[in-house]
Amino acid sequence: MTLKISFQTPSPQKFLCLGVYEGNHLPEPTETWNRTLNKRLTEAIENSKFKGQIGQVLPIVFEKGHKIVLIGLGKKEEQNEKQWQKIGGALVSVLESSPTGEGAVEIHGIKKGDNADVVANIALGAFLKSWRFEKYFTKKKPEDLFSIKKITFLTPDPKAAERAFTPLSHTAEGVFLTRTIITEPPNVITPETLSKVAETLKKDGVQVEVLTEKELKKLGMNAILGVGQGSIHESKLVVMRWDGGKKKEAPLALIGKGVTFDTGGISIKPASNMEEMKYDMAGAGIVMGVMKSLALRKAKVNVVGVTPLVENMPSGSAQRPGDVVKSLSGQTIEILNTDAEGRLILADALWYAQDRFKPKLMIDLATLTGAIIVSLGTERAGLFSSDEALAKKLFEAGEAVGELVWRQPLDDVYDKDINSDIADVKNVTSGRGAGAITAAKFLQRFTNNVPWAHFDIAGVTWTQKDLSLCVKGATAFGVRLLDRFIKENYEEE
Ligand code: BES
Ligand code: MN
Ligand code: ZN
Repeated sequence: MTLKISFQTPSPQKFLCLGVYEGNHLPEPTETWNRTLNKRLTEAIENSKFKGQIGQVLPIVFEKGHKIVLIGLGKKEEQNEKQWQKIGGALVSVLESSPTGEGAVEIHGIKKGDNADVVANIALGAFLKSWRFEKYFTKKKPEDLFSIKKITFLTPDPKAAERAFTPLSHTAEGVFLTRTIITEPPNVITPETLSKVAETLKKDGVQVEVLTEKELKKLGMNAILGVGQGSIHESKLVVMRWDGGKKKEAPLALIGKGVTFDTGGISIKPASNMEEMKYDMAGAGIVMGVMKSLALRKAKVNVVGVTPLVENMPSGSAQRPGDVVKSLSGQTIEILNTDAEGRLILADALWYAQDRFKPKLMIDLATLTGAIIVSLGTERAGLFSSDEALAKKLFEAGEAVGELVWRQPLDDVYDKDINSDIADVKNVTSGRGAGAITAAKFLQRFTNNVPWAHFDIAGVTWTQKDLSLCVKGATAFGVRLLDRFIKENYEEE
């Protein structure tokens, strides 16, 4: 069940989180409560260390079950949208102590005409942080599950706050779709079922086509087919289109790696932590989430999403190290390691996207290499781009939403490392260094010089600890970044 978020004018509440800016004089009478309560509030503050510093919390209980929790907001002048969202995220754990599952939030001293963005972004932070995946628990007691059902934001201008929140909530719905896809177990999310999930976007107005193995074969997408040939599940290629822009205007193309489980294939991975490879379809999940968000927002832009979906399994029919396949581009690929499968399926998907749609630019997302985790850890994703302006826009969108990236090099000298002895290109290098870069160089050979960017999201897709806007698990890193990138740079007003 999703959390209900609503906006209304201030009124007395049983459970209220009151956001207080640092240095504000709190005891000013407000409309929300009477002078007696105000006096008690003042006393409680005077008898505490509460100063409104960011992250400070002061719970105050009044008789008859009324509870006010003061939340420090920090200095008013130092705030920005990321801070507001963080505050919203922090509110979730406070509201969880509400016995009814409902609570209200008010910012002390906020006036009509104050930026509605403040309230809307706090609401967004709370909404994002409240996402849970609890469907497979059958024995937990209700009190051990996530309990918040409704948050009411009290603001002098609820209409304005609502107007500001609606598009943000649409982006959040995209994030939730992506997190769900990533979190579902690999026996549930297979290429077939993931293509069915994509088809649910039709109800939002996205056009969805699902190409079957037969069609992939006919087209010549042998790089995709090779990876999937060891699995009992049929490989698919999903093509999604959101045509909200001008007719005939070239689309932006988003391409996402969709390996629903990556065992490594015949070059099999070690057993420890292999279960994590259920999230190897995050790139595809992100593209689906962005398409959903664009459709819900009715974004005035043309975007096409292309997601190759496969399961990488070892079996009697699996691809071998040493195999040579002819990709859709015509280039032949020598497969030296069946665990470097993401680049293989993306090779065909990238070529297909540029060949069929003649896009303005292509952006791919992939949990592509362990090497990017060695390089950047779990804080920033790797960004590779053949285009300076594109790289800059993507970097800035990431900074704006707090999904941070760091650009990596694509110098030509790295390219020769993937020349094969018997084919045009090989899927791994013999040296040990620069694994994320050589993977990106491999992809670049299939972009046909269309302006292109690649995100290696192996380190940022799954978090082992709670983050400010996301509990432990799938982050959907990339959805908000791309949504912002598109909104800032390509949507008509
Ligand atoms: N899906 C993995 C990369 C990965 C690793 C994602 C850890 C998330 C967390 C990818 O398919 C892979 O196996 N890459 C290999 C490439 C190597 C064989 C050249 C790797 O990084 O080890
Ligand atoms: Mn792999
Ligand atoms: Zn993989």
